Amino acid sequence: MNRSPMLALNNGVPMPALGLGVFLSPAEQTARCVTAALRAGYRLVDTAAVYLNERAVGEGVRASGLARDDVFVTTKLWVTDFGYDKALAACEASIQRLGLDHIDLYLLHWPLAGAFDRTLDAWRAMERLLAEGRVRAIGVSNFMPEHLAQLCAASEVIPAVNQVELHPYFVQAETRAANERLGIVTQSWAPIGGVFGRKPEMQGSAPHPLEHPVIAGIAARLGKSPAQVIIRWHLDQGFSVIPKSVRTERIRANFDVLDFTLAAEDLAQIDALDTGQRAGPDPQTFAVDTYPADVYDQ
Ligand SMILES: NC(=O)c1ccc[n+]([C@@H]2O[C@H](COP(=O)([O-])OP(=O)(O)OC[C@H]3O[C@@H](n4cnc5c(N)ncnc54)[C@H](OP(=O)(O)O)[C@@H]3O)[C@@H](O)[C@H]2O)c1
Repeated sequence: MNRSPMLALNNGVPMPALGLGVFLSPAEQTARCVTAALRAGYRLVDTAAVYLNERAVGEGVRASGLARDDVFVTTKLWVTDFGYDKALAACEASIQRLGLDHIDLYLLHWPLAGAFDRTLDAWRAMERLLAEGRVRAIGVSNFMPEHLAQLCAASEVIPAVNQVELHPYFVQAETRAANERLGIVTQSWAPIGGVFGRKPEMQGSAPHPLEHPVIAGIAARLGKSPAQVIIRWHLDQGFSVIPKSVRTERIRANFDVLDFTLAAEDLAQIDALDTGQRAGPDPQTFAVDTYPADVYDQ
């Protein structure tokens, strides 16, 4: 069976580069998706407290029959749990829901630019969770270079991962460069343009990235699907990538990208589709009430 390429995190922990995302995967379908992914060769699953499917992720991992150490599970601390004590308690609650003895990668889900002290308090709790072995690596999500600079100036541990919106229409050159300078792995969310499916108005007159003629052309020439070409574009640049699907065939196909690479000209053509515009929320203004969310009713 094919195996994902591996990335070394800055604390030496190995992380599979290619994983399954489960944002908006309904809880009642998620265990099946996770088991299908693990059978297809995936070894990384990306969830979050706020996705309300951590229990199902744990069920899917156990149903796969794989050893715990063979699976890498990421989950995220939601912004309503920022603060030191709340973060410690929220991590334990996630571990309980997952039914695992530890989390492999724990991320701050968003920076709270307007309440950065609370963001830093949450990060200090994550540092403690790391020291105590409750989590094997800690990182951030949706951090812009200025947020990384603020965090790193005020703390001991450099994040291992920064998971950000990254797809052919938003290539995040500055954030990638900042991550690289700090030895942080860039992990792409909405990697195949999922955010446009949720917000079609963001595309304006442009097609969905999976339907863009440049990507469709490369895919046709290589005998691959557009999704496979875009997933390869992430891997070929050294990113971690976590495409989501609830369909077993797509889950399998999205992993079936390990037998080819893109030529430099193909990578450059896809890079040129960048619009410089994010489609998801703006990390500068993200606040606790940006999304009404209650992660306590699980
Ligand atoms: N940190 C953050 O703030 C943040 C934000 C958003 C997402 N994420 C993480 O990143 C993961 C991926 O991002 P995402 O879910 O937003 O978007 P995505 O993976 O780019 O796209 C998912 C969408 O594409 C469809 N799809 C999947 N494979 C396909 C294929 N081969 N051909 C055509 N369509 C396909 C899926 O539909 P079906 O399910 O029907 O197949 C779904 O609608 C999430 O699941 C989550 O784990 C993190």
